[in-house]
Amino acid sequence: MSNQLVIRNALPADLDAIISLDRTTPDADKPDYWRGIFEHYVVKGRADRIFLVAEKRGTVIGFIVGEVRAWEFGSPPCGWVFALAVSPDAREHGTGKRMWDEICRRLKKTGVTTVRTMANLDQKLTLSFLRAMGLRTGRYIELEKQLD
Ligand SMILES: CC(C)(COP(=O)(O)OP(=O)(O)OC[C@H]1O[C@@H](n2cnc3c(N)ncnc32)[C@H](O)[C@@H]1OP(=O)(O)O)[C@@H](O)C(=O)NCCC(=O)NCCS
Repeated sequence: MSNQLVIRNALPADLDAIISLDRTTPDADKPDYWRGIFEHYVVKGRADRIFLVAEKRGTVIGFIVGEVRAWEFGSPPCGWVFALAVSPDAREHGTGKRMWDEICRRLKKTGVTTVRTMANLDQKLTLSFLRAMGLRTGRYIELEKQLD
């Protein structure tokens, strides 16, 4: 078993570890959501759907998920990263950056030249991380309205 941090494709057997890790984030507990995501991105995986985990000493300590999306809102194909987490006791050791760099490398291999994500303005840690990864405000804005 390696002491090194390994970034690898998620496997169906990683599902429970991902559900547990997700519980450490500010988001809601959502095991059914992860079952659906695994079916789509891991079981029926494709080159343009990427689900990676960070593993150390046989334990999954982080994950990142993204894909290529094309022509949404008129945008040419680009990479989207829509989930990312590192276990609280493993943070600030470069794991998030290793996963981010690897998913960007894989997205670039598919031919896209831009990566996008969205962040909650209240989550300063997320914003600090994304800024450190080189992300800046893009050319699209999110609009929303409460439905009564
Ligand atoms: C955001 C998160 C994934 C970062 O993972 P990580 O492994 O701790 O990040 P890294 O150690 O690779 O840090 C990379 C850079 O991010 C920034 N960063 C990381 N943690 C930070 C903190 N607590 N405060 C300020 N900046 C921070 C730093 O610039 C850091 O670079 P440096 O080490 O050279 O200073 C992790 O904190 C996390 O899981 N947070 C909760 C879930 C979340 O916010 N997910 C993202 C949105 S879905």
